[in-house]
Amino acid sequence: MTHLPGSQGEYDPRTAVYPGSFDPLTNGHVDIVRRSARLFERTIVAILINEDKRPLFTVAQRVQMAREALRSEPRVQVDTFDGLLVEYVKRVGAGVVVRGLRAISDFEYEYQMALMNRRLSDRVETVFMMPAEQYVYISSRLVKEVCMLGGSVSGLVPAVVEERLKEKRAAVAAKPGE
Ligand code: PNS
Repeated sequence: MTHLPGSQGEYDPRTAVYPGSFDPLTNGHVDIVRRSARLFERTIVAILINEDKRPLFTVAQRVQMAREALRSEPRVQVDTFDGLLVEYVKRVGAGVVVRGLRAISDFEYEYQMALMNRRLSDRVETVFMMPAEQYVYISSRLVKEVCMLGGSVSGLVPAVVEERLKEKRAAVAAKPGE
């Protein structure tokens, strides 16, 4: 499901897709997006539609937060996708998949995905980028856990995400047990 115009099957190495769940977007993700935007003419942040994972935020909320947080990046677009990533990459006419690598622990999963994607389409190249050091320990999972348990996530997520997380926390506190 994409709303972006593509070049119908033309793989363009100047366009990168940065896929993920982004539940929610963290400052580590934003750091990778900015690095990608310096290298590629167009970077598409592609949010996976996967309600099976029981995300904290709906896809629409994740898109809205990402658009707001990345508003000042003219070379960046936010979109959603379902199905195979390589099919989406082809549909929007990209040639590169960008993924962030924080630590060795990320490597095995990322390596498997990159090679599987290459097997599915050898026209799509995966590029790994390391975030700035202050973001290497940040993950969406930890950010959610810390915030929902009352800790501060200031500086770890964009302001709009921090606001939405606090709203979620307040909603949960108002309706315990749901
Ligand atoms: O942020 P995440 O959850 O680690 O991102 C994982 C994502 C969205 C990149 C991955 O699950 C994906 O590409 N899903 C789409 C389905 C697909 O193409 N699967 C085969 C990839 S090996």
